[in-house]
Amino acid sequence: MMEKREHWGSTFGFIMAGAGSAIGLGNIWKFPYITGINGGGAFVCVYLACIFFIGVPVLLSELALGRASQRGPIGAFGYFSRKSSILPKVIGGFGLGLSAALFAFGSNGLALMVGLIGIAFLVKGWSVAGFCCTAVAFLILCYYIIIGGWILRYAILAFAGKLSFATATDATGCFLGMAGDGWLSALLTIGFMVPCAGVCYFGVKKGIELASKIMMPVLLVIIFVLVIRSLTLPGASKGLEFFLKPDFTKLTTQGLLEALGHAFYSLSLGMATMITYGSYLPRQRNIFSAGLWIVLLDTCVALLAGIAIFPAVFAMGQSPAAGPGLIFNILPLTFNAIPGSLGWLWNGLFFLLMLIAALTSAISIFEPGVAALMEHAKFSRHKAVIVTAGSATVLGMVICSSVLTWERIPGVEALFQTLTGACRASLFEQIDYLCSSWVLPLNGFAIALFTGWIWGVSRASRELYRRGVPATTLERTEKIRSLFFMRLSVSFWSIFIRFIAPVLVLIMFLYAAGIVKFTK
Ligand code: PHE
Repeated sequence: MMEKREHWGSTFGFIMAGAGSAIGLGNIWKFPYITGINGGGAFVCVYLACIFFIGVPVLLSELALGRASQRGPIGAFGYFSRKSSILPKVIGGFGLGLSAALFAFGSNGLALMVGLIGIAFLVKGWSVAGFCCTAVAFLILCYYIIIGGWILRYAILAFAGKLSFATATDATGCFLGMAGDGWLSALLTIGFMVPCAGVCYFGVKKGIELASKIMMPVLLVIIFVLVIRSLTLPGASKGLEFFLKPDFTKLTTQGLLEALGHAFYSLSLGMATMITYGSYLPRQRNIFSAGLWIVLLDTCVALLAGIAIFPAVFAMGQSPAAGPGLIFNILPLTFNAIPGSLGWLWNGLFFLLMLIAALTSAISIFEPGVAALMEHAKFSRHKAVIVTAGSATVLGMVICSSVLTWERIPGVEALFQTLTGACRASLFEQIDYLCSSWVLPLNGFAIALFTGWIWGVSRASRELYRRGVPATTLERTEKIRSLFFMRLSVSFWSIFIRFIAPVLVLIMFLYAAGIVKFTK
């Protein structure tokens, strides 16, 4: 199994694939908006600090874990943990104790979940953390493909010139009609799943890497074109002001935690992707600089997305909205109304941008499931792709039936009600909430703890600055010059991964899960 593991053909290909995963809907529909309402430039500074101090250390850990073990998350955690290690038993025992306490307080669902994880830790040790990463990637995939399907439809409609609405109410009606129509959503979901599975079917080099090397440059070109168009609209400056003008009075503790959570989500951390992509890196590639490139591209695209969106929104007299509302209700109206006869083109380009961002991200959460089936069930890639695509589509169909309300599946709502006490508005929202607010931060916590304390910073850092044997004198001189910088950064990294990241990620979890609340 080990010697057959596929590898990226080039560092550039890996960076494009990694950036493809990181640059997703989060950059385009969430980051610009949360920046706007949380103090613009002031929030950007906080976000950059979160990316730099927490995002980068955890991303590097994930890449190093995958590369060093040459395994996906389940195998990677198992590979580096010692059988005799006492910590998983302590975590397992603690989980069971906590579960009993929760049960006594009447939180049955939570008690069940914590209890099961505790037992799993007792029996299987750290591999459970790898399993949780892979499972959450699969669950996110199941609802991400639905959004991908909607975007696919909007892209086609936009290029056909059929996405022109007179008012925001018309646009909202169109979106709600589509989201509420289970069959249409299901059909679109399949339409989006086919290219996503198709790319993974062709493997790492000929599938994911090739597709990313084509799609990511296209994405960058489109975003630059949209930025220029948007900035040259009369009245664009008001949008720029909303997005970037620093207002430190708007910064709150909630905003800080939102920045941290988003930094985490934006770099695709805790969802098995970066460990899996890291495991396809051959030994001689430098993880450190490749990881920094991914972070740089992700952050630049998030900022450029805001610069493309808000000036246009304000110039066209719209008001900004959050999340799905911004993309499906406000933006078609905005880009289509750009003066001249090319409204359809700007609209089409915007949805093509979204489609590429969604597709490369979906591919990256599709692959961990495939890798796990290949590694642990010894499936061939083709069989693993078919099984992953089939099961994600089936679960996606169930979620399609409950995008806006629980109406069509009251039984499932009752089940969640018993398990978790309170429910979100629909299955779609419920799964999103459980994944983003509970499982992702807990996975991040486990990754930081594991790298910092179990695998150990000295072994992990050796993996980080490992390079190929320098072939020429020039390379050797370069290596010595960069070694000092490298060592310094690695010692800095180890402090963050051992102490600061676990504490901050835990606080982020307590906040996101609603266990701790801040008034300001
Ligand atoms: N980084 C992605 C984003 O910003 C997060 C993500 C990746 C979500 C893959 C889903 C799938 O949207």
